[in-house]
Parts: sequence; C-alpha cells; structure tokens
Amino acid sequence: MSSLKWWQTAVFYQIYPRSFADGNGDGIGDFKGITEKLDYLASLGIDALWLSPHFPSPNWDCGYDISDYSNVASEYGTMDDFKLFLDESHKRNLRLILDLVLNHTSDEHPWFVESKSSRDNPKADWYVWMDSPPNNWQSCFDGEAWTYSPERNQYYYHYFMKQQPDLNWHNPEVKKAMWDAVRFWLDLGVDGYRLDAIGTIYEDPNLTPHNVPMNLAQLRSFSDTAKTPKEIKLKEKYWHEMFKNQWGQAGVHDLMKELRAVVDEYDGDRVLVGEDDNIDYMGNGQDELQLVFNFPLMRTEKITPTHIRKNQKERLTQIDNLASGAGWACNTLGNHDCSRIHTRFGNKLHDAQLARLNAALVLTMKGTPFLYNGEEIGMTDYMLTDISQVKDTMGSWYYHAIVIDMGVHPEEAMLRTAEMTRDKNRTPMQWSNNPNAGFSPADVSPWLPINPNYKDGVNVHDQENNPSSLLHYYKHLLRVRKESPSLKEGEYIPLQTTSKDYFAFLRQSDKQTVLVILNYSEKVFELDFSRTKEMKNANLKTLFSSAQRRPDQFEPKFKLSPFEVFIAEVVRG
Ligand code: GLC
Repeated sequence: MSSLKWWQTAVFYQIYPRSFADGNGDGIGDFKGITEKLDYLASLGIDALWLSPHFPSPNWDCGYDISDYSNVASEYGTMDDFKLFLDESHKRNLRLILDLVLNHTSDEHPWFVESKSSRDNPKADWYVWMDSPPNNWQSCFDGEAWTYSPERNQYYYHYFMKQQPDLNWHNPEVKKAMWDAVRFWLDLGVDGYRLDAIGTIYEDPNLTPHNVPMNLAQLRSFSDTAKTPKEIKLKEKYWHEMFKNQWGQAGVHDLMKELRAVVDEYDGDRVLVGEDDNIDYMGNGQDELQLVFNFPLMRTEKITPTHIRKNQKERLTQIDNLASGAGWACNTLGNHDCSRIHTRFGNKLHDAQLARLNAALVLTMKGTPFLYNGEEIGMTDYMLTDISQVKDTMGSWYYHAIVIDMGVHPEEAMLRTAEMTRDKNRTPMQWSNNPNAGFSPADVSPWLPINPNYKDGVNVHDQENNPSSLLHYYKHLLRVRKESPSLKEGEYIPLQTTSKDYFAFLRQSDKQTVLVILNYSEKVFELDFSRTKEMKNANLKTLFSSAQRRPDQFEPKFKLSPFEVFIAEVVRG
C-alpha cells in the first residue's frame, strides 16, 4: 500500500463556476449545473475538484472580491445546493477544495463598510489606511494603489482593484475572523483550499516607492508593443520593479503556519495549495502549504524539451532540498487567469498534436496535476470584438485608460484588450452542438459569449461519440496514470538530455519503471535505449501510444513517430 496522501496521487480539475454548467437556464453557471455534470467528471477519471470562488460577490473581479466568506452567491444557488454538490461529489469519490481569498475582500463586505465608516469604529484598523498616499505604488489591475474614501478622509490600499481593499493582516482580529470562515467550510466537509494570491498579503513596511518611470497603464501599453529583445527585457524588469515592494514579504510564512495549524485540526489530510511558485511556502515540508504550483513551467512562449528539462531539474532539486524531504511537486499549464493551453502553446500548424503532448506532459511528470475545465475538449481562447462584451474589469479599465489617457485608436485598443482580458479563456463550457453549446437554453444570452467553435466538434457530446477525440485521449491517459504506480509516485529520471525535439524520462518506483517519450517535432527518430542502465536486458510493454503501437513487448530500440506520445513499462527478465 502506498503511504502517499490522497492529494499526492489525485488529479485535480478546476471548475470556474460561472462558466461550467447553467442548471437553471439564466445564462450563468450554478451548483445545480455542476451537480448534474458530476457523472461526466467522474467518468473523466479525475479525483478532485478545485472550485473557483462561489461566495457572494459584486463581481468586480468575477468572484475574487468576496462580500461574505460564509455563504454562497445567490446566482449559483443556495447553501443546500452547495451541500448537495459536496455530498454528491464525495459519493463519487471526488474531493472538493475551495478558493480562499485572504489578501482582500470586496469593498461591499460588511467589514470594509464598517471600517470606512469612521476612523474609530471597531473595524477601523481591519484594512490598510493612510492619511495621504505614502508612495507611488500601483494596483496591478487599475492604476493607483491608494484610493480616497471621503467618509474617513483617508486613503486605503489595494493591490488589486479599488473594489478589492487589502485586509490588514497585522491585526489579530482579522486573522480570527478569517480562520472562523476557514473552519466554517472545513466543518461542512470540504477537503482543503487553493489560496489566492498569497504573495500579496503583506507590503514592505518601509513603503519604499517603485522606481519605474511609468504608471500601470503606460507599462501595460509598453508591454503590448515591446518587440525588440531590449524592450522585452526592459518590460520584464519594469514589471518586477514596479511591484517588488508589494509582495513576497516575510510575514507570509508565519501566517501560512497558522493557517496550516487550523487545517490540521481536522482529519482527512485537508490540503492547502498556494497560488504561488515559491517553494519556500512549503516551509519545512510539513508546517506550511502542502503544494505550490510549478508556474515556471507555463511561464514561457513555447513548451520545448529543453525548457521542460531545465524546469524539472531546477524545480525537483529545490523540492528535494526541503529539510524534511516531504515536499511534493504540482504541475499545471492553464487556469482561469491565462490563455488556454490549446491557443497559447499551439503553433497554428500543429495545435492538436501539441495540445495532446502537453496534456501527456502534465499527466506524466512527477507531481500532482491540475487541469482547467474545457482543456479536455480543446477549448481555445475566444477574442471579444466589442468593449460592451468585456466582463473582466481589468480589461475594460485598460481599454478606457489607453483610449482616453493615451489616445490609442478604439479599434486598436479593442484588439489589445481582447488579447489581455481573461474573458478570452473563461467563456462557457461547450457541452454539445446545440444552440449556446448546450450551456444555456437557446433563447438565453450567456454571461459571456460562447466560442462558436462548439459547432466544429469542440464540445463534450460530439467528442464522447468520437473515439479518436481529445476527450477520449484525456480519459485514456488518466486511466493509464491511475493504473500505473510509478506515474503517480515514481522518481523522475531524465534520459537523453540534449535533444531539442523530444523529451524522454523514466518514472521509477520500487513497484515499476515507466518510460515516457514526448516527441515535440514532426521528425521520426530511431531510438535505442538498450544500453541505458535501467533498460539493459529489458523489454518495453506499451501502456500508451498515440501512434497506435501494438501492445506486444519489444526491445528498447524503436522508431519514434512524429508528435508521438509513448508510455511504456520497462519489463525485466
Ligand atoms: C488571483 C486569481 C485572479 C484574481 C486575483 C485577485 O490571481 O487567480 O483571478 O483576479 O487573484 O484576487
């Protein structure tokens, strides 16, 4: 029996509730819809769900501006609907983690309403207040980070939108209130949390100004038009310099320890996953977060064997160096904040093949995989064409800033906005070839437009009926992973470390050795691993091949097909 925890062997699937399934036909996803799709999720072969925020919210940041931490958004249903969803998920052996936003609340949260009402109310010190803006800090979403409140004749700080005031985490009452909310959902039986933007919780106590000669709108615009290597380098430098005093501060470690202690009061190995790539947030491997995302893997223009090898070497070495040896990797290539895998890592010629390779990568690498809803059917980014369609406030703010303040032509501004807004990767899930992709009834306008490519086979129903679809491919790979002890728990051993075209590695445990080869090119390769230590005098037994290999055993000498995904068990004697 494996001694691993459930969250180490599980595959997680992120549900973006507004766009997942519209059960009551009002154009917005809801719990009824999600619950109706649980059989689909179970049939996929995933093990756990991460639900993006489902709390009451004025939706300035699509739910990441919470106005009540112990309730559900009425457009998603009632608390009973939530409980039913949780219960039905557990019945199907699907765990559920929620999204926990610690850095800020909505400006409509009663805590903030009270805090801003006067300078001496009981919650006066629950947020970050100053008599005047102490520096030139920017909000990463909408301009100045300090916003004036006439009631107090003071300014409050917000790292994100002005509708998302930062909580003052130096105040013990804030902690107590938030830990109560954390317990509320753990008491109901949820299996853990994904922790939103933890790096932004504390600010530089000296309030050191940034030294970038631009404001946020100018920097975004500069970034959009940066082309030469020099400009691209400068753009990266500026982004770092602009925000470096507003995140990554030391206090987060102690806070994560406190939160971990709260979660550990509960049985069932409840898990904390940080939205950060900093391995230090795992503490000693046992006292802070169990997982943080391997974002450096996806922070690239192109997924290449060279990039993956370098990433794995750096990442796994850091994790192995954790004092207790109890660190665990966590890989993903997409979520609700970034361009969809199919679009972002495609090359317009071989998008379908690359999407399959990248799915195989996430599902075979060492660590816990996170998938984003819709990637299993190859959903792509959808470019909005009119500013009235934009729901992501960060996008509409940018549009108006560059049109009004910088004189950019509205057509050009819309093209740039469509590209930068996260709406493009949050469009409703495509369930069928029926009107509105089966997400909402035909006569309803969904909250965001539906990507019309649902008519061209990018939908669940058509792909369920097509054995060679991407959906079947995901199911197949998930099955292979589930049935292979080494793909879940094996060590990573890189093979062939120079090819720019294919990535080859072993996953090895005391139970099994598995060979994985991902050919990121259209070339054919004659491979010979018969002298490789782990494969000497052994045969290969195909567990999966996108090139339709027969399941016979053969020597580790073979021809790798273009774009092939090949997974085989190494069989000795
Ligand atoms: C996280 C979320 C993102 C949100 C932001 C502010 O990065 O993933 O969607 O806008 O935090 O809460």
